[in-house]
This record gives sequence, structure tokens and C-alpha cells, in this order.
Amino acid sequence: MKAALRSRWAQAGLVILAIFVLVAALAPVIAPYSPTNSSFSPLASPSLRHLLGTTQLGQDIFSQLVWGTRGTLEIGFLTGLFATALGVLVGIGGGYLGGPTDSVLNALTNVFLVIPGLPLIIITAAYITTKSQLPIILIISFTGWAWGARVLRSQTLSLRQREFILAARLVGESPLRIVVSEVLPNMLSLIAANFIGAAIYGILSAAGLQFIGLGNVNAVTWGTMLFWAQSQGALLSGAWLWILAPGAAIALVGTALGMLNFGIDELTNPRLRAGVKKLPKPVPAGTPEVGALLSLQEIEAGYQTAAGPLTAVRGVSLAVKPGEFLGIAGESGCGKSTLAFAALGLLRPPGAVYRGSSYLAGVDLLALTPAQRRPYLWRDASFVFQASMNALNPVIRVRDHVLDTARAHGLPPAEAIERATALLQQFEIPAHFLDAYSFQLSGGMKQRVVLALSLLLRPKLILMDEPTTALDVVVQRLIMQQIEWILGELGVSIVFITHDFSLLVEISDRIAIMYAGTVVEQGPAAEIYAHPLHPYTQGLIRSFPPMSGERQVLHGIPGHPPGLGEKLSGCPFFARCSARLEGVCDQAVPALLAQGDQHTVACHLYGQPPPVAAPTAVGEAR
Ligand SMILES: Nc1ncnc2c1ncn2[C@@H]1O[C@H](COP(=O)(O)OP(=O)(O)OP(=O)(O)O)[C@@H](O)[C@H]1O
Ligand SMILES: [Mg+2]
Repeated sequence: MKAALRSRWAQAGLVILAIFVLVAALAPVIAPYSPTNSSFSPLASPSLRHLLGTTQLGQDIFSQLVWGTRGTLEIGFLTGLFATALGVLVGIGGGYLGGPTDSVLNALTNVFLVIPGLPLIIITAAYITTKSQLPIILIISFTGWAWGARVLRSQTLSLRQREFILAARLVGESPLRIVVSEVLPNMLSLIAANFIGAAIYGILSAAGLQFIGLGNVNAVTWGTMLFWAQSQGALLSGAWLWILAPGAAIALVGTALGMLNFGIDELTNPRLRAGVKKLPKPVPAGTPEVGALLSLQEIEAGYQTAAGPLTAVRGVSLAVKPGEFLGIAGESGCGKSTLAFAALGLLRPPGAVYRGSSYLAGVDLLALTPAQRRPYLWRDASFVFQASMNALNPVIRVRDHVLDTARAHGLPPAEAIERATALLQQFEIPAHFLDAYSFQLSGGMKQRVVLALSLLLRPKLILMDEPTTALDVVVQRLIMQQIEWILGELGVSIVFITHDFSLLVEISDRIAIMYAGTVVEQGPAAEIYAHPLHPYTQGLIRSFPPMSGERQVLHGIPGHPPGLGEKLSGCPFFARCSARLEGVCDQAVPALLAQGDQHTVACHLYGQPPPVAAPTAVGEAR
């Protein structure tokens, strides 16, 4: 809840609401007169004695407004309370218990959803003769709880399937205890939003009813003020404040409650919390490397957080030639996924590319708007997400995934299905799985379906972010063979991200080693493996068992990389490096320099030979 209240919207809403609550609580102190005292001269203009003037009957409008706050907030609060309580009872109770109880409660909810609420309220309210506001509140709550129940029920149904609820059942907790201590806390924000929604509904409905003269019109609320103002011709007699003041007060309280709801939205969706704003386009950098299909130039990317901007990728330049397999390796959190997302312009707020260019066949994808970029994605460069098996929508069939992609890129449906069938067969998935939902596939099958989908439009490049992690070694092997086929037969370029260095050595043409958001070494796979230069690469190789020869003791790399918020003043590996040069490595960030023909390394141990030749010409424009 604290997080919800950190939101600016919620704070503003809360301040406005707090003022109204204070006014309601201190009404006897704030209001100069009794709201029913009609001893003043009628229709007086605003003055120091009557701040908002007086009514036709000679009552002080300001005093009525102040006392009306009390009556109106009471309606809002109690309607919120009753409607939410009913919604929680019916929605969560039915959703959790299931079976006949759920069927009956769900049917009841549906009936209340289709009953036209307003006429029912009007008819019932017309029979109320008591002075109390309670009947009106009860009627409004009774006609307004069903929406909340519906939402809460579906959320409960989904929570019921979650592992922690199953675990609670397994250890023998009673249904009541599970609902109270496991389900309810997970739905607090939803329940709070429901309460606020019902309170707004209550205030507006009550004001509407009272405005047309239903309920007890002698009670002092903003609704009854509007009723009297309207029936006694306030506007005709020039007493417009008589209508404006309660009207504005209703609007203001409604807005404040709505703003509080925004805060709750931010609580349920943490992505909204960091104050997601439209980020400027990254500052372009460099020119595309000659002969490269994908040329990343000085990509700097990170995340905007409440604690300030973080830099996860610190100026990475990489190139992939047509038909080439580039492996990117590095420990968890070094920025591999961020780089891949940044390269295709797929980072979403709070993620942002601060600087750099990503030239795909000469076109800087980062200089385009999302709409301009869309045709290139999937058709020219596709992406296999980390844990991409979750990228399949569970409610649509594989066939529809194929058709959706085809439709978005103008591929005739029949041809798309034909291609998909052939690709699935290539990946050893029988064609009838086209009609399967993702939950009917095993993890390895989902991964292969995603690979097949990534090839549907015959892209020139596929970025694969850890496509084999979390799969067993046999399936990993199968997928790697299929990736080799993609590379060999289709000539597609592949950027393959993993922290499994030994896997890369086997299959890559070139390997780039990432550390703390930078590329620290890059070169032909065999050379990097045989002659690693950077102490980090050497450490990385020592942490994996050798592919041949005797068994060796494996060594990890002690220590941690620098934080993403830190500005680097020296080599990012300095603190962990056993070969560091004090006074050198901590003083300047090493540049990525050539060591031999195609091998580059960012390390002060290798002196400062002539820099890598700068890119010289612009690649072929599309
Ligand atoms: N939305 C976010 N907000 C703040 N920081 C983030 C966000 N997403 C990622 N990060 C941080 O950015 C850094 C790089 O993350 P990234 O996912 O690129 O790492 P990775 O190299 O792909 O790791 P892994 O091998 O575990 O997938 C990490 O330190 C991570 O905590
Ligand atoms: Mg990752």
C-alpha cells in the first residue's frame, strides 16, 4: 500500500480527500451557522457573513456545503463498504469454493449484472419515507456489488491454481484460513480499487437520486442541495453558487477517489511505478560496419528507476556478418538480454536506450518510430526470447500464432500454414500440433515451436536469448542441431546469447564476452578458447569443465561486478582481477583494442596498440 501512496496521483487524490474528510469531521466548528437556519435574508450575494450567499429560503449556502460534506462522504464510505463486502463474499467465496456454491453465486451475480440498476433504485427509493440515509445506501450497494464480485471471482479462480495455494491445501489448511490468509492479501489492491469504485458510484447515484427528489430531501447532502437549488430556480434568480458549489464538490471528490485508484493501479502493475514516461530517441552513434548485416554502434542502455537511471549496457559495438553465428557470453546480469532488446528497439519503459545505433542492413532501427520499425521486425530480424516458451499465448492455438504473424506482414494465410507445417516437421513436431494450445506442448516442444515461428518470414537474422536454458541436455542437443541447420541450410545469421561458454565454443564463428555491460573481449571462437586474453575470459573458461583431456579442478571468479548505478572510473573487472595493475587499471576504462587480426580485448595488460580500424563506409541502405 505504501507503494501505491508514493504515486503522485494517489498523493494528490489523498490530499484532496483528506481535506474533505477534515471538513466533514469538523463541520460543527467550520460551518458558521446551522444548515437549516433560515433566518437570513433570502438570495443574499456572497459576502463575509455568507461566503457563498444564501438560498431562497434564507439558509447559508456555505454552512450547507460543509454539513453536506458529512452526509455525502457518509454515503460514499458506507456504499463502498457494503458493496465491497458483498462483492468479496460472493466473488471470493464462490471462486474459491467452486462447485454448486459457485454456480449459484455466479448465477446470482449475473442476474444482478443484467438488472437495470437505475430504474430499480428509483422505484425502490420512491417508497422510502424514513429520515435516515441508510435505506438509500443499502439500495445502491445492493444494485452495485455485482461488477466487483465478477472481477474478484475471476481473480480468485486464477489464484486458486497457483502453487502457493495448492501448497497451503496440501499442508491441510482449512478453506476459511486459506481464503483469509492466502487469497485475500493477494487481492487487497483489487479490493481497495473495488471499494473506491463503489464509493464513487454511491456518491454519484445518491446525488442523482436526491437531485430528482428521491430519498429524504430534508437531509443535508450535496445531492439535496442540488435538488433545492434546482426546484427553487437558483439559476433564474442568479444564485448560481448554490448549484455550482455542491456540483464542484461532487466532481472534486469523485476525481480525488479516481486519482487514488490510479495509485492502486501502479501498485498492481509495478511497471507503472517508475513514472513511465516517453523517453527521447537515443543519440545516434557511428556508421554501420562495412559488410555487416547487423552493426551495433556504441549502444548504451539501461533502466529508469525510482533510485535514478541505471546503466546495464555501457557502450557496446558489435557486428554480425551475413550467415555468421555470433555468440555472446557473460555471467547473469551482465546486460546480455538488455543489449538484445535494445538492438531491435524492443526495450520498453522503464528500459531505455540512451545512446547508440543499431544498423540492420544499413537502417538504424533506433532512429525509427515503433510504427516505422514494425515491418523490419520478424521479417528481417526475429527474436527468440529468454524463456520464450512463455511467449506463446496460452489461449490461442499454434495455428493462430502463425496466422497472426502472417497477417501482420501480408503473407497469404495458406502459404504461412504451408511454411509452418514444413518448419514444424523440420523441428520434429508432427503437423497436428498446429492445432494445439501451448499448454498441451512440453517445454522442449514449445521452444521448437517458437524457433519455427521465428523462421516463418525467412528473416536474415535471428537473435536468440538463451534458447536452450532450462531444457534437459538431450533436448538442448536437438535444438542446437536444428539451429545448425538454420545456419547451414537457410544461411540465416544468428546472435546467440548464453552463459554456457562451452556451448558457444562448439558452434560459434565468433564470440563476444560481456562483463558488467561492456564487451571485454571478442574474436573467433577457437582463438578465444585457445588463447583467451582478458583475465575475465580466462576465469570464465576455468569455470567450465574442459571438453577433452583430464579432469581439472574448476575455479569460480570471486567477487561481484560493479553496480549498475556506478560510473566507471577504471576497468569494471578491476576489483576481481588477479592480474590488475594498481594505479593503471583503476584509473582509466580500457578501450576495446585489436590484438592480432580479428581478436580484440579491453584490458590494460595488453598495452595500447593501435586502435581497431574505425568503420569506414556506410553499409548498403535498404
Ligand atoms: N526493469 C528493470 N529495472 C531495473 N533494472 C533492471 C530491469 N531489467 C533488468 N535490470 C537489470 O539490468 C541488468 C542486466 O539485466 P539483463 O537481463 O540484461 O541481464 P542478462 O545478462 O540477460 O542476465 P541473465 O543471464 O540472467 O539473463 C541486471 O542487473 C538487472 O537487474
Ligand atoms: Mg538474460
